[in-house]
Amino acid sequence: MAKIIVVTSGKGGVGKTTSSAAIGTGLALKGHSTVIVDFDIGLRNLDLVMGCERRVVYDFVNVINGEANLNQALIKDKRVNNLYILPASQTRDKDALTRDGVGKVLEELKENFDYIICDSPAGIETGALMALYYADEAIVTTNPEVSSVRDSDRILGILHSKSNRAERNMDPIKEHLLLTRYHPERVAKGEMLSVDDVKEILAIPLLGVIPESQSVLNASNSGCPVILDEESDAGMAYSDAIERLLGETIDFRFLTAEKKGIFKRIFGG
Ligand SMILES: Nc1ncnc2c1ncn2[C@@H]1O[C@H](COP(=O)(O)OP(=O)(O)O)[C@@H](O)[C@H]1O
Ligand SMILES: [Mg+2]
Repeated sequence: MAKIIVVTSGKGGVGKTTSSAAIGTGLALKGHSTVIVDFDIGLRNLDLVMGCERRVVYDFVNVINGEANLNQALIKDKRVNNLYILPASQTRDKDALTRDGVGKVLEELKENFDYIICDSPAGIETGALMALYYADEAIVTTNPEVSSVRDSDRILGILHSKSNRAERNMDPIKEHLLLTRYHPERVAKGEMLSVDDVKEILAIPLLGVIPESQSVLNASNSGCPVILDEESDAGMAYSDAIERLLGETIDFRFLTAEKKGIFKRIFGG
């Protein structure tokens, strides 16, 4: 049975698109046919992070409007098998996503894919509501700071009340907490919330903790999802999150500040 997973947050700039790209790629690497859908109409970031911006011809809104079919709009990843991107439109108005239109496209995607990852825009308006409406699972992406946690809490309320599953009295959306841009040094200094603080406030199961990392910036600049950088801390943390998403229980890494060795202390690390 195909699963629709929304990557959501409320707040912007927390790492939803980075995480959608990494998680979609990670699931495809595990052999699951996966499509990542960009719901951020107008901004269209996912294709940049995935490095396929020059290959966009038709987009999500074209498919909804019947101006193109899915085969014409889906972009096949050149690095990973079984991985596709459905890009967002750059110019059109945000009302282009209708509930019926989105529902039809997702139904058609469900026939062809194991996982449909919905990269949500920021906020709690139409675009974000549309991205989460049909979800079976939600990856609530949160930074370890009060404003982000507060917005994630509001999104949890919306998942409980305004989703298709909630409206139809079906089993609730399965929720996962993904803590991103985690900075152990700043947590130790009391400048940021700790993993335990965030877990306690949001009270949903922890899927992963992604460290703040230069490797994420390098990856997005080169249009290559960070999970493909197997040597990087963030790449490894996303791989761990994929294992957990697929039901494995594994230890968390990168939660504490790295103790600087004598060389790093003298020469800088
Ligand atoms: N773990 C991380 N370490 C460092 N920078 C990150 C990390 N995750 C995201 N970023 C950066 O934060 C910015 C916002 O990320 P993005 O994924 O676009 O967020 P959103 O989709 O939630 O708006 C981008 O510049 C991205 O490269
Ligand atoms: Mg985004």
